[in-house]
Amino acid sequence: MPCRTIAVANQKGGTGKTATTLSLGIALARLGKRVLLVDTDPQGDLTKSLGWKDPDSLEATVASHLAAVIEGEGLEPREGILSHKEGVDLMPANIELAGMEMPVLMAMSREQLLNVWASPLKADYDFILFDCAPTLGIIPVNAFVASDSVLIPVSAEYLPASAMAGLLKTIGRVRRQINPSLSVEGILITLSDGRNNLAREVEGTIREQYGSAYRVFDAVIPRAVSAAESPAVGASIFAYDGRGKVALAFERLAEEVVGRG
Ligand SMILES: Nc1ncnc2c1ncn2[C@@H]1O[C@H](COP(=O)(O)OP(=O)(O)O)[C@@H](O)[C@H]1O
Ligand SMILES: [Mg+2]
Repeated sequence: MPCRTIAVANQKGGTGKTATTLSLGIALARLGKRVLLVDTDPQGDLTKSLGWKDPDSLEATVASHLAAVIEGEGLEPREGILSHKEGVDLMPANIELAGMEMPVLMAMSREQLLNVWASPLKADYDFILFDCAPTLGIIPVNAFVASDSVLIPVSAEYLPASAMAGLLKTIGRVRRQINPSLSVEGILITLSDGRNNLAREVEGTIREQYGSAYRVFDAVIPRAVSAAESPAVGASIFAYDGRGKVALAFERLAEEVVGRG
């Protein structure tokens, strides 16, 4: 099976990008897939959520690889990859990535740097998932260039207005100018409280507005206390509350993603 690379992105913060990258990644690993998660947010939330509580103490991160590509240094692509006990690998990120923004912008082929690093790793994995920061800056664009598709988590807590339009426009621009095979993997409704009228309204609006042009996943990620707690213990929702509704929803999402193949 050729490796599939997916960027998890939305320039709005708090839509469940990091939770989705982590939980989808572990759900895919539980289906027997070899999975690499790549933290591309200088906040290092994905890195922390997987249990590396002090990302700033890590020496080799995604920032090191961007720097090595820019400088033409021969840094081995696997340098710094961490193994999580639930069966996924992680390329961590920390605050050093924020300092790479300018060097990346000044670099030759500035949109291709992440792709140059990640390409040789495709031989080792079935899935590479990039957790993006809540911006449409040069680092997320690098993730889009390195990806086959973009998975868009949208919070059921507010109507996605202009943020979606901006993201879809950026994806279109990357597709036209740099990566013609980039597609939208799907829109994922997250943080959904089924008892709440707004959540139902948002879900209906998303399916209506985007359902004909894009896949809107049948799986909807419910809001649950357990899902808010699990990052603090460095465990996925599968290890923390494996029989709960959030784990079940991510299992279904993984099946939808794999089914598309
Ligand atoms: N299913 C869920 N139920 C409850 N809280 C959640 C759920 N998913 C994520 N959260 C919490 O919501 C916040 C935002 O989620 P996060 O994945 O960090 O979003 P983003 O990466 O888009 O900023 C975090 O505090 C996270 O722990
Ligand atoms: Mg995040």
